[in-house]
Amino acid sequence: MKRRDFLKGVALTGAGIAMSGGVGLLSKAQAQGGKEDFGEVKSVKVHCISETSWFDNATLGADIKKAGGINTNQYDVAYTKENLGGFAALVEVEALDGKKTKYLLDTGWNNEWMDYVFAKDGIDKMLKNKDIKTLIISHDHIDHYFGLESTLRHQPDIRIFFPGTSMKKSFDLLKGADFSKTPGCPKNNVPHKGELIVTKTDKLYKLQEGAALVFFDAPATLQCRGENVMYCKVKNKGYVTITGCCHPGVVTLFNHSRRNFKDGDKNYGCYGGLHISVFENWDPKFDDLIQGVKALKMTKIACNHCTGWIWAEKAVQAGLPIVHGTSKNLSYKKTGTLAKSKTSNVYIGNGDDVFFG
Ligand SMILES: [Fe+2]
Ligand SMILES: [Fe+2]
Repeated sequence: MKRRDFLKGVALTGAGIAMSGGVGLLSKAQAQGGKEDFGEVKSVKVHCISETSWFDNATLGADIKKAGGINTNQYDVAYTKENLGGFAALVEVEALDGKKTKYLLDTGWNNEWMDYVFAKDGIDKMLKNKDIKTLIISHDHIDHYFGLESTLRHQPDIRIFFPGTSMKKSFDLLKGADFSKTPGCPKNNVPHKGELIVTKTDKLYKLQEGAALVFFDAPATLQCRGENVMYCKVKNKGYVTITGCCHPGVVTLFNHSRRNFKDGDKNYGCYGGLHISVFENWDPKFDDLIQGVKALKMTKIACNHCTGWIWAEKAVQAGLPIVHGTSKNLSYKKTGTLAKSKTSNVYIGNGDDVFFG
């Protein structure tokens, strides 16, 4: 974060570490101290609600190719509906005093699939009861955002963190727009009524003591850009990086804590899509990423979604601490074609938990 932005942030939120609506930017004093210090938590548990954004790579690849390729606007692609799932995770942060706070990271794609996985894990009730009060949208990509209605239907006034670089149509979807004329594109019958926090470049948003959100401006496919990334500092362990797709790059995100946060050299672990060998292709530079991540000496690497199964398997072979899944996903009403063909479990699959503490 640039110092000028810190000062702007202080002006916005008042002096010191004062929080506005529970969200605070870091204080001038902390900025002057050099590295950012947003406190510590006791533990973090991440529950994989769904990491199967689509069930078959080849089908999605063909849909996108037909529409003009990966630089086509995501709202102009006709997607094969039966292939669509979605990405969402429940992040439960345990404060030092034992108080637990739940955050929903992303809201998936296909409403029907999201209704199914939300019901399976009781997410629908948690939303209704306001056990979950915050939805963090990592980015407005198809699979992380098009299922917005599946969350809003249970809690229209949920607080939402939303990347400022999102497409205009994505902002319109919040208000109740309908793009469903194009197969696989979203409609939202429940306009958002709650607090909307639009995240901006190079700012750090403190969610609570020990947990923060950082916005990165980076290009992604299908004309998207920008991503919110969650960082938690677990006491006596170090930083946990929680991502949707990791579009800014895995090394950039892991190095962000090293460069910018107090005790940042302690990288404890990560959860989420690492966006490496997305379509199971291989490139020699992916070997470099194995060595690059290895150098960070993390303890728990929990990956799935756009990481690439092939990368995770090679990372295990290279000695990286990849957390294995339990195969619960195989009992779901739908399973990704890749997962069905594998026995290695290098992904944290649907229904799995990862504990950092
Ligand atoms: Fe994704
Ligand atoms: Fe993405």
